[in-house]
Amino acid sequence: MTTTLWTPVQVGALELPNRMVMAPMTRNRAGAGNVPTELAVEYYRQRASAGLIIGEGTQVSPQGVGYPGTPGIHTPEQIAGWRQVTDAVHAAGGRMFLQLWHCGRVSHSFFHGGELPVAPSPIAINAKTLQFRGDGGVPFEVPRPLERHEIPQVIDQFRLGAIAAQQAGFDGVEIHGAFGYLPDQFLQDGSNQRTDDYGGSIANRARFLLEIAETVIGVWGADRVGVKLSPSNTYNDMRDSNPVATFGYAIEQLNAMKLAYLHIMGASEADLRHGGNAIPLAVFRPKVTVSLIANQDYDREKAMAAVASGDADLVSFGRLFLANPDLPARFQHHAPLNLPNPATFYGGGAEGYTDYPFWQPELATASS
Ligand SMILES: Cc1cc2nc3c(=O)[nH]c(=O)nc-3n(C[C@H](O)[C@H](O)[C@H](O)COP(=O)(O)O)c2cc1C
Repeated sequence: MTTTLWTPVQVGALELPNRMVMAPMTRNRAGAGNVPTELAVEYYRQRASAGLIIGEGTQVSPQGVGYPGTPGIHTPEQIAGWRQVTDAVHAAGGRMFLQLWHCGRVSHSFFHGGELPVAPSPIAINAKTLQFRGDGGVPFEVPRPLERHEIPQVIDQFRLGAIAAQQAGFDGVEIHGAFGYLPDQFLQDGSNQRTDDYGGSIANRARFLLEIAETVIGVWGADRVGVKLSPSNTYNDMRDSNPVATFGYAIEQLNAMKLAYLHIMGASEADLRHGGNAIPLAVFRPKVTVSLIANQDYDREKAMAAVASGDADLVSFGRLFLANPDLPARFQHHAPLNLPNPATFYGGGAEGYTDYPFWQPELATASS
């Protein structure tokens, strides 16, 4: 029988009713103390028909912050705020992981009381930060390289974040290993020039990510932990001298840990334009025996083809889920889709967050 987006699937410890995953998306709408608000409760509740929701990047510590208004998972208030979200998603019949995040050098001293953000090596991103104080963004600073003895402390931030995510009622966690944030900064040699056992060889550069994975598995068990990787990404000034070998190694090692899933992004149009790595997912597919979630520019047809052929076990949708709270129902009925509005992606209130209409308005409240 052909596998479709509606074929139920076992992902680690979870049985999912469909293969449409909501990709993690930063929305910069957390309240005071980086606590998720009532609006976040509503936003995620609306999207509970996803096979799995992966909550937005959520910093595991104050040191991990890189943007304004991003939620954290390191204070009692944040845990309580997230508990409201997970309760609402569960009451609506959904399942939700949280993405554990540390921005590393993708940050600014503005967020750290004047101290420099941390990174594997003192290499600045050759770009401007996003605007965070009304000045249109400023050049990234040269980050402070982590001392060797600090690295276990940073890994421990992920352990504490994983514990806090359990207290907040999530079904599991995803480690953010993508998009040039701290684990990715260690992994790729364009941002890691260390000469200790966390730099140099591929095995050394992968050590930070793999130790985080082991630590988080120690909290949750492997079958409730996923990892997101973006081998083709050039955003945040990322580069590697041999990405096929680097990511191939990381994927092999993570796969051997019997994670719930690997969430791997293909090349975006921007990656292709930058002439970056642009590696087809098929290169890594044979290495993945745990569930593979594919991501990047999937629509209904591409996603159906990917799960039917086995190129992916599940597909995650970012912008389409952002704009279509009822995406699975729309796909099922070939209904028209709302278009995402990039002007309201980051920051603001309900507009562009909780006000995208349902295709069948009666379903907007049916699950509450
Ligand atoms: C508004 C917005 C915020 C995002 N924030 C995150 C994030 O916090 N963590 C992450 O791993 N990816 C993030 N992404 C990337 C998405 O998870 C996804 O990989 C990307 O949108 C490609 O999928 P799509 O083509 O289906 O939109 C974000 C994307 C968007 C549009």
